[in-house]
Amino acid sequence: MSELRFLGGKGGVGKTTLAAAIGLREARRGLRTLVVSTDPAHSLGDVLGTGLGEEPREVVPGLWAAEISGRGQARRRVEQIVADAADAVPREVLPAVRAHLERAVDSPGTVEAALLDRLTELVERVPADFDRLVVDSAPTGHMLRLLTLPELVTPWIEGLAGQRRRSRDTDRMFAGMLGRGEETPDPLLARLHARRDRMAALHRRLRTDAEVNLVVVPERVVWAETVRALDVLGGAGIAAGAAVVNRVVPAGETGLLGARRVAQTEVLDAVRARFGATVEVPLLPEGPTGPDALGTVIDILVDAGW
Ligand SMILES: Nc1ncnc2c1ncn2[C@@H]1O[C@H](COP(=O)(O)OP(=O)(O)OP(=O)(O)O)[C@@H](O)[C@H]1O
Ligand SMILES: [Mg+2]
Repeated sequence: MSELRFLGGKGGVGKTTLAAAIGLREARRGLRTLVVSTDPAHSLGDVLGTGLGEEPREVVPGLWAAEISGRGQARRRVEQIVADAADAVPREVLPAVRAHLERAVDSPGTVEAALLDRLTELVERVPADFDRLVVDSAPTGHMLRLLTLPELVTPWIEGLAGQRRRSRDTDRMFAGMLGRGEETPDPLLARLHARRDRMAALHRRLRTDAEVNLVVVPERVVWAETVRALDVLGGAGIAAGAAVVNRVVPAGETGLLGARRVAQTEVLDAVRARFGATVEVPLLPEGPTGPDALGTVIDILVDAGW
């Protein structure tokens, strides 16, 4: 069982339901488990039947849950930078600094980078505080972007650090010419290096300690998206674990459900052929919410050897 598990798949296929059920399963096994939703349209709290926030909260013994947001993280970062700047810039400039940073919170890329930072903080708490982390992701494209971001940002940060080093070298050269050549520490460069190292470590961990469980409902369009996701994961060196086939119509149904079952068979065969291991969850009369109702799904996971 991987320490870090991401539930991925097309919109509405059952990622949140499965993330909650897997989290409960791991907790019942005695593992300190954190389930975290990174989907801006959070529904993990609804599925677990409880309110959730940014900080992990123990919802049943051994299971913690949180709903994290890039925007919240970016806002906290702005407060921190404004507080740091208060000592460094003249007081009359501070409102302009704050206004600039607040606009930056909504700029493209900021929110996703902040979400990645927040997720990194939680990943770093495994295994010290939690034995397992289960991530309830946003639909496919968002999850793939989040998983491939550490690799993309590492050279970008390296580039920023390079620029910073060059500008420091120029400053030092002029300072030397003026006879003021002493070495001073550069907190900005130190912070860039620390960030680069954290992203590089996350990138490594995603390839060694993580797996993605793709959730599929047996429909052609869903399967086509899943196959593309598998290619991206393969290219990124991230393991695709067992697939979860959700809302499988039980054999022996007649009428409309029977016709659906026939239509599902072709995709079911393709999923079984492509994945070494699958877990199949039947179409239930009602979407399971709350630890008791999720028991049906947990029993299926246990039967499948999870
Ligand atoms: N096996 C099932 N049988 C019946 N209903 C189900 C089943 N699995 C999930 N559902 C219901 O389907 C709906 C979508 O499930 P869920 O929210 O888990 O999907 P999701 O992939 O997380 O969606 P999103 O992409 O919007 O985050 C929910 O109402 C859920 O209760
Ligand atoms: Mg969801």
